[in-house]
Amino acid sequence: MYVLNSYSKIQKSLWIVLIFCTVLNVKAKESLSLYDLTCEYQVNPLGIDQSHPRLSWKIRSDEMDVFQTAYEIRVTTDPKSFVHKGLSWTSGKVSSDQSVHIAYQGNELKSGQRYYWQVRIWDNKGHASSWSTVNFWEMGLLAPSDWKAKWIQYTKDTPKASGPSPMFRKAWNTNGKIKQARLYITSYGLYEAYINGKRVGDAYFTPGWTSFHKQLQYQVYDVSSLVKSGDNAIGVSLGDGWFRGNLMGGRNFWGKDLSLLAQLVIEYTNGEQQLIISDDSWKTSLNGPILLSDIYDGERYDARKEIANWSTAEYNAQQWQPALVNDTLSYEHLISSAAPLVKTQEHIKPVKIITTPKGEKVIDFGQNLVGWVNFHVKGQAGDSVVISHAEVLDKEGNFYIENLRRAKQQLTYTLKGGAEEHYHPHFSFQGFRYIKIDGAKELIDLANIEAVVLHSDMQQTGTFETSNALINQLQHNIQWGQKGNFVDVPTDCPQRDERLGWTGDAQAFFTTAAYNRDVAGFFIKWLKDVKADQFKSGAIPHVVPYMFNGEQGGSAGWADVATIIPWNFYQVYGDEQILKDQYTSMVNWVQFMTDNSTDGLWNKGWHFGDWLFYVPNDDRDGRAAITDKYLIAQCFYAHSAQLMINAASVLHKSDDKQRYEQLLEKIKKAFLHEFVTPSGRLVSSSQTAYVLALNFDLLPENMRAEAAKRLVENIRSYDNHLTTGFLGTPYLCHVLSRFGYLDVAYQLLLQETYPSWLYPVKMGATTIWERWDGIKPDGTFQNKDMNSFNHYAYGAIGDWMYKNIAGIQPDEIIPGYKQFRIAPKPGGEITSAKADFESVYGKISSSWRIENNTMHLEIEVPPNTKAKLVFPDIKTGEAKDEKGKTLADQDEWLTSGKHSVTFNVK
Ligand code: BGC
Repeated sequence: MYVLNSYSKIQKSLWIVLIFCTVLNVKAKESLSLYDLTCEYQVNPLGIDQSHPRLSWKIRSDEMDVFQTAYEIRVTTDPKSFVHKGLSWTSGKVSSDQSVHIAYQGNELKSGQRYYWQVRIWDNKGHASSWSTVNFWEMGLLAPSDWKAKWIQYTKDTPKASGPSPMFRKAWNTNGKIKQARLYITSYGLYEAYINGKRVGDAYFTPGWTSFHKQLQYQVYDVSSLVKSGDNAIGVSLGDGWFRGNLMGGRNFWGKDLSLLAQLVIEYTNGEQQLIISDDSWKTSLNGPILLSDIYDGERYDARKEIANWSTAEYNAQQWQPALVNDTLSYEHLISSAAPLVKTQEHIKPVKIITTPKGEKVIDFGQNLVGWVNFHVKGQAGDSVVISHAEVLDKEGNFYIENLRRAKQQLTYTLKGGAEEHYHPHFSFQGFRYIKIDGAKELIDLANIEAVVLHSDMQQTGTFETSNALINQLQHNIQWGQKGNFVDVPTDCPQRDERLGWTGDAQAFFTTAAYNRDVAGFFIKWLKDVKADQFKSGAIPHVVPYMFNGEQGGSAGWADVATIIPWNFYQVYGDEQILKDQYTSMVNWVQFMTDNSTDGLWNKGWHFGDWLFYVPNDDRDGRAAITDKYLIAQCFYAHSAQLMINAASVLHKSDDKQRYEQLLEKIKKAFLHEFVTPSGRLVSSSQTAYVLALNFDLLPENMRAEAAKRLVENIRSYDNHLTTGFLGTPYLCHVLSRFGYLDVAYQLLLQETYPSWLYPVKMGATTIWERWDGIKPDGTFQNKDMNSFNHYAYGAIGDWMYKNIAGIQPDEIIPGYKQFRIAPKPGGEITSAKADFESVYGKISSSWRIENNTMHLEIEVPPNTKAKLVFPDIKTGEAKDEKGKTLADQDEWLTSGKHSVTFNVK
């Protein structure tokens, strides 16, 4: 009995051990897992309005050479039960290697409903992942009729100048246990909302900038933790913003009256719902502390007018007047925001406090940036401090604001007195490195003043570094140009009275931007406006959102944003949807060019040309690098036609593809006839002319080598300097490296004297300048009317640096980095380089160093992708991998994992 008993005990223990081991074993074997689950490029988004939102995930594996072979997705409205019958959708096990952009295919999605989802996958190594963590997306208000709220405003007023910010409030009572609460909110003008005295969300400049009457974004906030049981209040203040503030010298582009639309949905645990909607029961006042707010001009704030507790239930709003309901405003154009909102990103402390030769009190933050200052003051009620912002000091070291044109960029803060006061602006941002403090200067606590960097909350995806410190500073400047000009809309500059969505700048910089940061949502949002603002003729406006008079658009290289960004977006994110969404707009743009052509020659209309190309002073022997504007137009016409061929092919529109192939042939023929001499000279003997003709394949194969040679001769004739403007610059080094002149590309990149990328770096730039010589070699400034020190366009060289120095290149045919190339091309005495890029599949890394004529290359390839290794021309002998295996010279494919490759170089 005893024996038997102990035997069974042993047996039991053995079973436990066995089970334990099996569990451990399973755990140990769980080398496959999923991370970064996103829905429409966002993590757990609120306010999705697509009927078939797309889901993506990244794969983590301990093993190399991993591909997904199948996936299964399940979606439910009840996170506690992922059981079959409660599911909104189950994909079943789908044999597929697709791990990005998988469209939901289940039951119809309901307004305001949250959907939880999980995915699991199988790989080529026989592993299955566990179900992923539970993620969710929540639908927005899908139909206009879902909005019960009314549009409200202070009064019908038509301010000539910026006026005080209207404030709105509503108090109410909750009754029961609150399960959750959501605030759906938007405005004409900018809003800041508070519930029970606490700010709703952490975004600024909401609802963002769109072509307001065509599409107006609303935001959704989870305010469950702000609403309490019992007495509650909501308060919202509005600023002029882009809607009716200053824009290029005018006001009220979209309307005169600031208006608010807010719908708070409170759900109780018993299933009941309470709606708090903006209507005439809300109270409004103009007597708050924000006396003036304007994107360009800054803010005037009188803290004596602060109304304590105005957004709490305790406040008595008897003096406030009832809000006016405006029934004429529509709900039809409301869309949920697709882009990341503008948020605080960094806090920067002063590096120097300066008294200028003029006696000005100036603080240097050491970095040209975009955002605002945060400061503390202590003094008497009625004391004022005035803060002005500048990007640069002049030659003498004085504060310089002439290049801001009419933008005041000034904050005036009047103290309420007593305890220390703290302030930052609400509805205005500034572009600055320096601030000047006037008024009661001594009251500011200099130890606690800081610059706050604000921009759209795009995740950083790229890093790039080399052994050359100047190139690293150039990369730094490119990154900062992007930060400063990605404040909800891609702008030309962030400081003077302009700050507009210039289409040419955006198309030139897109690919660089997409290396540095995740710009998917940002551009999905903006491209909607590119499409919405497109004129009936098919022309794309110069700026989007469009706010000029009449129909100003259709300029070559600017309007081509319609084709260039969607195609480049598709390359980076592998997302066909962008091509589907923009296709009609692309077609209409190319049709516009065709309508303005004669026999394939686009010979009409007004064009910016190769904006800001090299023009020397006192140009007696004609050194200015002028390129015929119609030659440029023809090149972009060809490029856009080629992109239509590409897009039609991806979308299986074979008739269109054929049509555009024929068109392209005609365009090229017309180009040759009009702009090329029989011996291969272009009518404009400029770098930009050769660059565009070569980059867009306008010349027959047998003329290309000669044209490349002429390009190089031209560069030599300027002592190895570039002379290109906005349109030639992005492609200049690409063309040189493609046609065998890598050394010349490096010479241009490393050139330190004007005009060059490194000249501003040597002059102390911390961002990319609008002009090659914003500050001239003698320290004086370029023309004050067009001299921004934060303009990203020339930063487009970043694309070449990632693609060629580090060698990370997407594949045209299999886009989105599902397949890509690692093709580093060392040069210019750079001895090492490293770039990381977070693709939609995960991290890609390429890092190399050359020591004693040996090149060591470290590569990381994410799971479910493969990379073709392309060796540099300087390679000699055999290449070996980390295991000592010899690699083939061509077609060496690397699959997921980390790889080390070594070979000798010349
Ligand atoms: C902007 C540019 C823009 C250009 C049009 C300028 O005022 O700042 O960046 O592209 O106008 O040529």
